[in-house]
Formats: sequence, structure tokens, C-alpha cells
Amino acid sequence: MVAVYPGSFDPITYGHLDIITRASKFVDTLVVAVLNNSAKSPMFSVEERIVMLKKTCADLGLKNIKFTDFSGLLIDFAKEISANVIIRGLRAVTDFEYEFQMALTNRSLNSSVETLFISTSTQYLYLSSSVVKEVAILGGDISFMVPAIVGDEIKKKLEKIKREA
Ligand code: COA
Repeated sequence: MVAVYPGSFDPITYGHLDIITRASKFVDTLVVAVLNNSAKSPMFSVEERIVMLKKTCADLGLKNIKFTDFSGLLIDFAKEISANVIIRGLRAVTDFEYEFQMALTNRSLNSSVETLFISTSTQYLYLSSSVVKEVAILGGDISFMVPAIVGDEIKKKLEKIKREA
């Protein structure tokens, strides 16, 4: 089974890693796909996000994972890589409506691709990339939210932004 786990991953958090680790156990290949979305103004470029994803997954010894970016419709990308499953993490009830809408839209576009939801581990229920960035910008501790290499990259990025301001 080939599955795709799409997202912004700006940057990857322990919440995403939890989903990747658990999904990788029941699929043959998991393609972690970073959305190339020019409408958003991200902290990290797509390339930087993929490097961080690769490093953190390599540190966990996960082997059946591939990394790439995509643009356009997710369902078209899934077809392109022959994925028959889309993996999404569900944190709280608030995620449900949005996720359900996406899953139904994707199914209406191509019914041969199923969306599978994995419930987030309780310690990551509140976590999002925006929360991580906000806490980091305000000088708080993010070491329990993101792997050390991601924390270092955020620190570097914030220093660069400060220098250039
Ligand atoms: N742990 C921690 N955080 C999580 C998480 C988890 N398990 N699951 C989601 N999140 C967070 C992300 O960090 C992100 O936080 P942010 O908003 O603070 O940056 C937020 O939840 C959104 O999740 P993300 O996984 O990045 O999804 P997204 O909403 O940015 O993108 C796509 C979802 C890429 C699947 C969707 O936009 C897409 O398919 N786009 C392509 C266009 C398309 O096909 N559209 C039709 C389908 S409706």
C-alpha cells in the first residue's frame, strides 16, 4: 500500500512525527508531501521543510518514507504517485469538520483513493506549527514541541529576520 501524508509542515512538529511513525507501520511506502502553496507566507521554504523532515525521520530510523513537494490538487498528486490512501491526523473535534470536508471532496473527485484518519497522541492534541512559531518568537521553550534540529533552524531563522529588520 502506498499512502500520502500531505501538509504544510512549516515546520514539522512532534505531532506530525507521531502520525508519520504510526502510519509508516501499516503502509508499504509513505510519501510525505509538502504543499507548495504560494498563497501562504511560510517561515521555511519548501526545500528547507523537506530537509528538516528527512533529518528528523532519519533520526527515528524510519526507512519506508519518501519526501517530496506537490502543488495543485492532492487527489491528482496521489494518482501520479499511485497512492491509494491519504493519511491525515485528527487532533480535536475542531479538526473534524475541515478534515471531513476535505475527505469528501477528495472522494468525490476520485473514489478509488481513501482517506484514513489517525488520532493524534494526547500529548500533541494542542500542537500546531503556528503555536510552535508563536512561542519561539516570544522567547518560550519549544524543546518539547519540535525535535532539536528543528528548534535550531527556527532559532537561526529568527536571528536572520532580526538582523535584516
Ligand atoms: N500534529 C501537529 N500539528 C498538526 C497535526 C498533527 N498531527 N495535524 C495538523 N497539524 C497542524 C499543522 O501544523 C498546521 O498548523 P498551522 O495551521 O499552524 O500551520 C495545521 O494543523 C494545518 O495542517 P496541515 O497538515 O499543514 O494541513 P493544511 O491544512 O495546511 O493542508 C492539505 C492540508 C495540504 C492536505 C490541503 O490543503 C490540500 O490537499 N491542498 C491541495 C489542494 C487540494 O487538493 N484541495 C482540494 C481538497 S479540499
